[in-house]
Amino acid sequence: MNELNLDYKFSVAPMMGVTTSSARYMYRLISKKAVLFTEMIASQALHRGDFKKMLRKETIESPVILQVGGSDVNLLKYSTELANQYNYQGINLNVGCPSKKVSQGKMGACLMKEANLVKQCLEGMVSETSMDVSLKCRIGVDEFDTYEFFKSFISTVIESGIKIIFIHARKAYLKGLDPKRNRTLPPLKYDFVYKIKKEFPHIKFIINGGLDNIDDCLDQLNYLDGVMVGRSIQANPFFLEDVDSNFYNLEKIEIDRSFVVKKYFDYVKENIDLISTYELLSPLLALCFGVPGSKKFKQEINNLIRSRDIQKLEYAYLNLIAA
Ligand SMILES: Cc1cc2nc3c(=O)[nH]c(=O)nc-3n(C[C@H](O)[C@H](O)[C@H](O)COP(=O)(O)O)c2cc1C
Repeated sequence: MNELNLDYKFSVAPMMGVTTSSARYMYRLISKKAVLFTEMIASQALHRGDFKKMLRKETIESPVILQVGGSDVNLLKYSTELANQYNYQGINLNVGCPSKKVSQGKMGACLMKEANLVKQCLEGMVSETSMDVSLKCRIGVDEFDTYEFFKSFISTVIESGIKIIFIHARKAYLKGLDPKRNRTLPPLKYDFVYKIKKEFPHIKFIINGGLDNIDDCLDQLNYLDGVMVGRSIQANPFFLEDVDSNFYNLEKIEIDRSFVVKKYFDYVKENIDLISTYELLSPLLALCFGVPGSKKFKQEINNLIRSRDIQKLEYAYLNLIAA
């Protein structure tokens, strides 16, 4: 069996409205090695829409995995071709999103009820590329929440030839819970993921859900092949500071936070006429994480964002970091 192209010990989870190209640019200034993901893009949108705009990214972001949604094999094959063309390092199929709109488009977590279809989709994607093809799923959906169901789903989808699966270790409710509550209310069941790894040791399993500190992430490597972290990085991108040394054995280097801020502002200035101000500036808001008085600072920042005063914003951030 072929090996994977990338080392997935630490990934930043795909997050709609969060893991934009701009946020990924910032994350890459902090970690050289973490595997980054795009937001989910529907394969239909790639087919019908302005795919050049949707797939745009900076070279320094690599490695980046394109996450797609869909269940039409031909559209997914087409998305895979585009991922090849646009120099992504992998493609990932989302079978974990419980949103109503996503389910109506026959995408996301509802597909966990159709393991054979998911297998066919992945087979199609694998046939188009030598990049890593992967899946992101939950441990169950609605009343299909036993370990036996989960095992049967996994044993079917790996017949496609994929070698890596990212698992958000809670089930999804398709009715009655919105996506936000679907990320907190269903209990985390890490034991399902540990057990599945024992049953299919040749497949790489990456655990996701509720990991909020580096020590707990490192502990997961005793059982599994890697971790994927979402909201903790959304809230505080400097969470990534210790990833290269702890997960990829690189020498520990103190990250110079003012250097990160300066570099990011160079990027903002270069792109101010190309990318929406909201996308460009929203990754900056998270940099106030845990800073005393950050509420007042955020208010000040919001005012500067509204007035698009980039120079003043840069000074405000540099002062904050220096303090
Ligand atoms: C704002 C937001 C948007 C998300 N969008 C996606 C998405 O596009 N695709 C996906 O597979 N998961 C998405 N997720 C789920 C995350 O990838 C992850 O599975 C979930 O947040 C649990 O991990 P965490 O506890 O580390 O945050 C999203 C989560 C958040 C908070």
